[in-house]
Amino acid sequence: MDQPFVPFRIKVVEPVVNISPAERAACLEKAGYNLFSIPSESIYVDLLTDSGTSAMSDAQWGALVQGDESYAGSRNYYDFEETIRDLFGYKHVIPTHQGRVAENLLFTTRLSPDSVVPNNIHFDTTRANVEHQGAKALDCVIDEGFDPSIELPFKGDMSLDKLGAAYERYGDRIPFVMLTITNNSGGGQPVSLANIRAVSAFCADKGLPLIFDACRFAENAWFIKRREAGYADKSIKEIAREIFALGDGCTMSAKKDALVNMGGFLCLNNDEWAQDITNLLILIEGFRTYGGLAGRDLAAVAQGLREVIDDDYLTYRIGQVRRMGEEMESRGVPIIKPVGGHAVYVDAMSLLPHIPQSRFPAQSLACALYLEGGVRGVEIGSLMFAQTDPGTGETSYPVMELVRLAVPRRVYTETHLTYVAEICGRIRERSGCLRGLEIVYEAPVLRHFTARLRPVDDGPLIEESPA
Ligand code: F0G
Repeated sequence: MDQPFVPFRIKVVEPVVNISPAERAACLEKAGYNLFSIPSESIYVDLLTDSGTSAMSDAQWGALVQGDESYAGSRNYYDFEETIRDLFGYKHVIPTHQGRVAENLLFTTRLSPDSVVPNNIHFDTTRANVEHQGAKALDCVIDEGFDPSIELPFKGDMSLDKLGAAYERYGDRIPFVMLTITNNSGGGQPVSLANIRAVSAFCADKGLPLIFDACRFAENAWFIKRREAGYADKSIKEIAREIFALGDGCTMSAKKDALVNMGGFLCLNNDEWAQDITNLLILIEGFRTYGGLAGRDLAAVAQGLREVIDDDYLTYRIGQVRRMGEEMESRGVPIIKPVGGHAVYVDAMSLLPHIPQSRFPAQSLACALYLEGGVRGVEIGSLMFAQTDPGTGETSYPVMELVRLAVPRRVYTETHLTYVAEICGRIRERSGCLRGLEIVYEAPVLRHFTARLRPVDDGPLIEESPA
């Protein structure tokens, strides 16, 4: 049998429709060629994000009904705290309503305008939250992490040379080091335990705390189990504990590997840091036993964390993403290799060499996938990351132009994902017909969420024949 084992069956379904190509063209134009502005009901397969889009289990839905909605001391908080302590091992567990609030609390209390935070690669909201404090977000992933074609088991690893150089240069301006597991902005690539151990030893030597961005920790642990010598017989939970024991805390968006639609938390060992953060939490998010969440949400997170560390679930989940990547490759679509844990990343730079970075090739590709088949992905390229120096007027562009197709957990069938690969294949065949885009409106920060664009030279996004 070559069929994967699917460790659940479907009990509730949500209808989707596939509107006509003409309706999609109208939607795209109205949305200013920005897929964030398209109503979800006008999308057939929504791979915008794997965040907050999971299908919850019957046990999670059951837990919702048992929420204890007391303002202080909810029984669900104590279960949440105990479940997280058991898995992550940290002393303080601070609930937040999503990951970026955990980041914001940490950064507001620990960063000053001259701080520098090294990470393998900061996720976009993490980078924006660091920069919001006036501080510098420094990406120190290994060089191979920026090359879509190099196949390495742990392309999310941090370069110890780059980290060492950062320390040489910035010294005590670094308040802590972060590691994002898995490395979302670099292709959902895992970080090895050997690398985590080396980074941890470096940090211990310099007296720097190590904080994990732990959103996809279970997927990272699965890769360690499969790819790193000595871990094949360890459970996901044992591997997770080993990872977190090498650090001093973590930020977590529970919308990923806690299998919920909303939630997050921050864990820390340091009493003083936790105290400062709890004080701020009460000011902006809520009391320390709910942190912006309902009691029932805390219950769903705790249950989700118990479910996500199941090896059968992770094998199914990561296998589903890998198969979609393989089907795309078999149709000649260039993707980041190896396929990461939560998404397939299409290399728009190599698919659309005729569109310069100033004309947003990855955004053009993302729009074309929607137009062709109602598939929504997200641009991770110039629209998200290019920066123009206000002094010189010069624009610096990111190394890669990617479209991320992120797979929600337990939501889509193999048929949906094969369809996505087919749509990608159809666009590849006509890639020479795609046009670049220009910006009509942009916000000063995180512009990709709200920008409005239009195809250049007043032409259609996809020409009848190559220009
Ligand atoms: N860190 C990483 C690595 C992330 O991928 C995200 C969110 C966050 C932090 C912030 O968490 O959304 O709960 O505030 N990533 C989503 C994505 C949005 O689509 O990749 P949040």
